[in-house]
Amino acid sequence: MNMSAAPISVDDRERWVAVCTRDKLATQQIVCATIAGVGMLIIQDGEKVVACERVCPHEQADLSRGNVTDGRIHCPHHRASFSLTTGHVSAGWSIRPLRRFHVRLDEGKVWIDTQASTCDEGRE
Ligand code: FES
Repeated sequence: MNMSAAPISVDDRERWVAVCTRDKLATQQIVCATIAGVGMLIIQDGEKVVACERVCPHEQADLSRGNVTDGRIHCPHHRASFSLTTGHVSAGWSIRPLRRFHVRLDEGKVWIDTQASTCDEGRE
């Protein structure tokens, strides 16, 4: 997962989209956003800010209704959990990892890379 504090250049402005302010994450651990029709979650996980898809890869539950503990997001429907670092699903599940998106912090905002997502294969 790429979380950079490097400034975003003018050339990057079409690639990176501001999705919320850092202040909003200070008061709300999970923020929902939609970019190009894709539902995403922006999550404050301790000192880190991460972004992932909003829909659970299992049966499409809304992960914004789940909870985050110890670097994992827990699905509210069947309780699978996904690493916010790798996307890997918890043991016992045979579903793909959670897609995550590159994040940058700049100008007091959280920016998401719209042209790349990460999706590591494998399970824990
Ligand atoms: S819908 Fe998320 S674990 Fe089943």
